[in-house]
Amino acid sequence: MIPYGRQSIDSGDIGAVVDVLRSAALTQGKKVEEFEEAVAGYCGARFAIAVSNGTAALHVAALACGLKQGDEGMTSPNTFLASANSIAYCGAKPVFADIEPDTFCIDPAQIEKKMTRAAKAVIPVHFAGHPCDMEAIWKSARERGLYVIEDAAHAIGSRWKDRDGAWRTVGSCTHSHMTVLSFHPVKTVTSGEGGMILTNDEALYKACRRLRSHGMTRDPEEFEGTAFSSQELLMPWYYEMTSLGFNYRLTDIQSALGISQMKRIGAFISRRREIWKRYNGELSGLPGVTLPVEKEWADPAWHLYVLRVEQRDRLFRYLRDRGVGCHAMYMPVHLQPWYRRTYGHQRGDFPVAEEYFSKCLVLPLFPAMTDEMSGQVISAVKGFYEDGELRCGNLE
Ligand SMILES: Cc1ncc(COP(=O)(O)O)c(C=O)c1O
Repeated sequence: MIPYGRQSIDSGDIGAVVDVLRSAALTQGKKVEEFEEAVAGYCGARFAIAVSNGTAALHVAALACGLKQGDEGMTSPNTFLASANSIAYCGAKPVFADIEPDTFCIDPAQIEKKMTRAAKAVIPVHFAGHPCDMEAIWKSARERGLYVIEDAAHAIGSRWKDRDGAWRTVGSCTHSHMTVLSFHPVKTVTSGEGGMILTNDEALYKACRRLRSHGMTRDPEEFEGTAFSSQELLMPWYYEMTSLGFNYRLTDIQSALGISQMKRIGAFISRRREIWKRYNGELSGLPGVTLPVEKEWADPAWHLYVLRVEQRDRLFRYLRDRGVGCHAMYMPVHLQPWYRRTYGHQRGDFPVAEEYFSKCLVLPLFPAMTDEMSGQVISAVKGFYEDGELRCGNLE
């Protein structure tokens, strides 16, 4: 089975990990900072905080915004559970705004429509690697004093062009307070598990860094003072817990893999773009099939290749039977049992996301895919239409 996504590991990656295993520090060493610097430098952000996964990054970022019970955090229904769950972890209410019908990213007009006085943060998700309309989102968030956290789990390396013609890189946080990344193995760059928060705001950076490690700080500038004397405050053993944090740390082993992968990010992204373009070129004109679009103002580092297909479930089974590990994502988050039970959501609440999900089909896309593999995927898709209704009918 050709999977829909998988990591590309070379001997350099293996060597980097082995070096850490042979070193003194498996965690809390220098590799974590080095990874943070590599990613912050690549994306153009001032600060980076590496954490154990993208979900932890979202949780920490939401807490750093002060999201709490009584607040609302808004996100897309077309995302992985983590984007919405992170809001609920803080005790706040996840609220959804429907997506745009062509990019499948959150629709800025819907954000405006769904915004209430309780709204405190918006988490736009750069779905499949295509950037959201950050200029519009940032404008309305600023007008209402909302925090913006970009969920860029799919989109490291993506760029967009503002209306004034300036190109912006996802993660540079020009139009957000923070950007969150994931380094899960299906993502563009992996550290096994891993995540990162990027920001240009020093106060948010410090808050995230504390939350990553139990709410602890050893920085005298952050001390609030405790029952200890001023002499004791100067002792090397002294630290303070100033907020309720977690152990969301990334290890040096994982960071070494991440650093090594970052050296090949350019090649990973161009190969993804190449395969995406090949699919788009060869799959055009099939009946009932809509190809993904790349807006003229967008330069996506594609994470997913998503078709919309009238006979999705039939084609899905047909491809799986032929070794093509296609996927369908995302099941709209508001239709999950917990979300329905907790917030009373039902079918029809977000019609664009629901319609999108009923037709979406994700084809395999990862840098280690050979031309032969992408050719196999293309032939299998075309085969479905060439085989005609009779054989398709037999699949049900
Ligand atoms: C859009 C989105 N947000 C957040 C996450 C969570 O990242 P992680 O799996 O690293 O916790 C994912 C991971 O699949 C994702 O796709």
